[in-house]
Amino acid sequence: MIGTDATGGVARKVLLDCDPGHDDAIAIMLAVADPSIDLIAVTTVAGNVTLEHTTSNALRVLDLIGRADIPVAAGRAGPRERELSTAAVMHGEGGLAGPLPIAPSRGPADCTALELIEQVLTEAVEPVTLVATGPLTNMADVVESLPHLHHMIRELVIMGGAVDLGNWTPAAEFNIWVDPHAADIVFRAGCVPGAERTGIPLTMIGLEVTHRAWLTDEHADELRGTGDVGQFVAELLDHFVGFHQDRFGWEGAPIHDAVTIAHLIDPTLVTAIPMNVQIETESPLCSGRTVADRWSVTGLPANALVGLDIDRNRFVTMLVQRLQHLGSESA
Ligand code: RIB
Ligand code: CA
Repeated sequence: MIGTDATGGVARKVLLDCDPGHDDAIAIMLAVADPSIDLIAVTTVAGNVTLEHTTSNALRVLDLIGRADIPVAAGRAGPRERELSTAAVMHGEGGLAGPLPIAPSRGPADCTALELIEQVLTEAVEPVTLVATGPLTNMADVVESLPHLHHMIRELVIMGGAVDLGNWTPAAEFNIWVDPHAADIVFRAGCVPGAERTGIPLTMIGLEVTHRAWLTDEHADELRGTGDVGQFVAELLDHFVGFHQDRFGWEGAPIHDAVTIAHLIDPTLVTAIPMNVQIETESPLCSGRTVADRWSVTGLPANALVGLDIDRNRFVTMLVQRLQHLGSESA
């Protein structure tokens, strides 16, 4: 039953801000599939592809899994200061491969992402968890425009950044690189979940974690033929795994964004420690770098919980199992 978890407890209310994108689509599906998560709204941002495509993709994924009841609102069409630069080379111009409905059954809500987030936080009876799996452009608006509602944000979990190397430039991970100024605003407002609340509790699921969270062709075959959802995910993976095999020579494709949701479902999956993280916004070489003080050499206070590792086998088992269950449910 929506809104209660498997033990009859109250599911965690989650608003997902995303830029679908193959792995964003899988994050949406995992959030809907797991009973401990109540996905109450989706907002979209330009990133992997343009806002028009990310919004249409979010609507069509929710159609496919039978959740056209979940509101979707479009956010910012581009970064705060930089020109938009997409990842169409990775995700394709439309942002998703595979057998999706050609057109969504509905349009997005007639309000902006920020307006929907304000409405959700205003009406919430308990603090809401925000998850961001694209550039942080919309989240920076939340920080700057909704200070009176920050207390209604249980925590913000983002997919983005890296303690070590980037994936879009040698220095920067894609989501942070697209809009470093937004990321700077978000991280300056962050604090460590569970510690004294001096800002918005912030968890950074970066590349150290997500590059270990990969699926392979074998997983695609496990899902193929298990209904519309399984077929869609299998074809998503066919594209996504193929790209990573060709571009990086890897065995599989990292399902970056789904790790944020898996972390909420089972916080023991990801190993994370508090760190001070600052964002480089000016350097032509290193713009978008998450400068993570792994060894506390700056003496600056930690402002985020930063992921360093993941139990990949348990993550993959959870993800494939939930996607297969979702397929059987929506069949
Ligand atoms: O670097 C990986 C991130 O960039 C993921 O969120 C992926 O969807 C892309 O947006
Ligand atoms: Ca994404």
